[in-house]
Amino acid sequence: MCGALRASDAGKKVVLMGWVNRRRDLGQIIFVDVRDRTGVTQVVFNHELNAGVHEKAEALRNEFVIAAIGTVKRRNADTINPNIPTGEVELVVEELRILNVSKPLPFLPSDTVLANEELRLKYRYIDLRRDAMQFNIELRHKVALAIRENLAAQGFFEIETPFMTRSTPEGARDYLVPSRVSPGSFYALPQSPQLFKQILMISGFDKYFQIVRCFRDEDLRADRQPEFTQIDLEMSYPQAERVWEVVESFLTAAFKAAGHEIKTPFLRMDFDDAIRQYGIDKPDLRLPAFTDVGDCFSPTDLETLAIHKDLPVIAIRIPHVGELSRKERDDIKPLFVAKGGARVFEDFKRIETKFPDAGAKVRLKAGAAEDDLLVLVVGSAQAGSSGDAHPASKRVTPAELAIYASAGLLRVALSQKYSGRHKFFQKDDYRFLWVTNFPMFEWDEGERRWNAAHHPFTSPHDEDMDKLESDPAMVRALAYDVVLNGTELGSGSIRIHRQDVQSRIFHALGMTEEEARSRFGFFLEALEYGTPPHGGIALGLDRIVMILAGADSLREVIPFPKTAAAKDLMMEAPTPVAEGQLRELGIGVVLKK
Ligand code: AMO
Repeated sequence: MCGALRASDAGKKVVLMGWVNRRRDLGQIIFVDVRDRTGVTQVVFNHELNAGVHEKAEALRNEFVIAAIGTVKRRNADTINPNIPTGEVELVVEELRILNVSKPLPFLPSDTVLANEELRLKYRYIDLRRDAMQFNIELRHKVALAIRENLAAQGFFEIETPFMTRSTPEGARDYLVPSRVSPGSFYALPQSPQLFKQILMISGFDKYFQIVRCFRDEDLRADRQPEFTQIDLEMSYPQAERVWEVVESFLTAAFKAAGHEIKTPFLRMDFDDAIRQYGIDKPDLRLPAFTDVGDCFSPTDLETLAIHKDLPVIAIRIPHVGELSRKERDDIKPLFVAKGGARVFEDFKRIETKFPDAGAKVRLKAGAAEDDLLVLVVGSAQAGSSGDAHPASKRVTPAELAIYASAGLLRVALSQKYSGRHKFFQKDDYRFLWVTNFPMFEWDEGERRWNAAHHPFTSPHDEDMDKLESDPAMVRALAYDVVLNGTELGSGSIRIHRQDVQSRIFHALGMTEEEARSRFGFFLEALEYGTPPHGGIALGLDRIVMILAGADSLREVIPFPKTAAAKDLMMEAPTPVAEGQLRELGIGVVLKK
């Protein structure tokens, strides 16, 4: 292979096959770097030694595929290339075969400046030849293999589940596949194998996993693809902690395969605490949590500043950002997305000048050094403070949530904006976290009904069962997320294993008995035939590899990804299909005006 030869191979006769990565023609001597998956080797065509082969080499161009046969030679000390593993040797070519030619390329795998992404995706096969992509795809392979081996060693069976199936509710739209033999009926591609894996527990395969493709027609972002890969697992009889151990074990193996050591067990945090401390359910722990600095201001200060006295006064601290200019401070304001009655004081310096006592207290309480950036997010004095508050509980009220959530988004935006100023995002600094005790339901204002916050098969907390009908907002779920540096890696839960409880949840979600039976009748029935308690989780493989590769989009770690418009630019999919094919399926197309 082109990455294999070392000084100790000098004198050997070898054959190298690969692409012409670079060609330097010095007249009497032509140097060519031959490349394959493993690296590059310099091969030399010397007119003096072999005029015929030198002449043939003159025809070589970028990305021609060649076989070079010759003898390995140590390079002179002054021509050693310390930057590549094969840099101490070269191959003196005795015979050259041109296995294939290449047209001039739209861009070169060796280009240091990246072609635009559309071009990269259209010519993905060329893009994939680049070192960075070869590295990412190999990394993906290693990570998936390590996970597979780890789960098998933990006693899990890998079991395949169908792609042509019916809808499972994971909150996105389905991709549908029309049936020819049942005209007017459709399969749905699975958004996840959720129901199949639960059925497998009913079937006695008490530890299941699958590295499996899932399909969701949803709005795409850098960390979302319409088809993506889950590490999906389910087990019988676990407590949540048991599922977490399984995950921590395979993540340790996966990170080790990528050359990183991680510490377990991961930190654990209640959903409510995550909201109070970070304003988001997937906090990035590499940056400080919020500080509530309400008590640093006197009642008159609060009144003068029109700050609501009963709502949190959040100080966001971003360390070591340094002195900001007037203009830079003004640039913070547009990053703020106000929810409810939340307001931002982006210019903390001004507060310090006008309210020196309070300013000093805030600095102290927030632990802010001189060069830290401080921004306050508060409730407007006019905002209501309670909404439908739950005074006896530790749950966050809607008015508080508005402040926490606005502050949480601003904290993320600020950390991204200033990540260049100070290295708070160190490479290899992996801060894992379990977020637990999510609320069971979310209120859908548009539809005016409760939705399942995770999915409707998640078990409520035992103690909260009596509130299912009377106070859904207060019901906690036995659900958990695993979060890494601000990214949700995975979600799971302990499931409902009793038919009567499952029926109550469908009811709480506003489904009539008939609806529940028609959508999930088979499942409700299965629950009645001796279903063991069970639980599980699914993690996004693409997201794990993206983080390990240090990439900022899933497209960098998926060989053939789709664009934000869900298009495959290389295959040019999706496409219209022939009229006859549609007719056979009983489908007519009506385009929206
Ligand atoms: P959930 O819907 O949270 O849970 O998905 C689990 C994980 O899958 C990844 N993921 C995605 N990755 C890329 N592109 C997408 N469009 C996308 N959507 C999800 C994320 C996410 O955390 N059946 C449940 C799991 C369970 O309860 O066991 C489920 O699918 O990393």
